[in-house]
Amino acid sequence: MDSELIIRQMLTSDMDRLKQIIDASFPRFFRFFASHSLDSEGQVLVSEAHGTAVGFAKLVEFHVGGDKFGCILWLAVHPQFRRKGIASALVNTGTELLKHNGARAVFASAQRRNIVSLAFFSMQGFRKMGFLGLWRLFGWRIFEFYRDIWFAPGEIVLMHN
Ligand SMILES: CC(C)(COP(=O)(O)OP(=O)(O)OC[C@H]1O[C@@H](n2cnc3c(N)ncnc32)[C@H](O)[C@@H]1OP(=O)(O)O)[C@@H](O)C(=O)NCCC(=O)NCCS
Repeated sequence: MDSELIIRQMLTSDMDRLKQIIDASFPRFFRFFASHSLDSEGQVLVSEAHGTAVGFAKLVEFHVGGDKFGCILWLAVHPQFRRKGIASALVNTGTELLKHNGARAVFASAQRRNIVSLAFFSMQGFRKMGFLGLWRLFGWRIFEFYRDIWFAPGEIVLMHN
């Protein structure tokens, strides 16, 4: 990883730059939701290289039953800065942070056809969870879980525990 790369909490002044990264990273339909998530509940980790934000991860925490969980809701790196380990650093830091705060497991999700993202999360130690695996964990509360992670049609859920 670039020694100039730092990971920090988002500042209000990052907003415009993060919206540029969103525009360059997600299909039109998802851009609105990704942008909206930047100033909604949860925290945003930003990776900064040479004074500029180059990627971000939106993290949320939620409870299902008596247990606490975490989710990496959105993750994107500016196209010019990809394949440099930036998303890996964001996901590792985010996962550690969420677990340190008491998350029993950390989830992520990606569109079924987003092969890059699915391969990326597998590399980071996340494994795919089908409906049955999630049902074993949550039972009827699975629908509460789907709502908490903003599950969208066509997505695959991944878990790190
Ligand atoms: C997915 C994404 C976040 C990865 O960011 P990144 O900073 O380039 O990822 P990293 O450099 O940490 O990649 C780590 C590993 O993931 C895999 N990977 C990442 N991008 C890949 C690609 N385009 N093709 C194949 N494998 C890839 C590789 O194994 C890579 O390791 P390597 O470079 O040593 O081979 C980035 O491509 C992106 O922003 N995509 C658009 C938004 C998106 O799909 N977000 C995820 C769903 S919310």
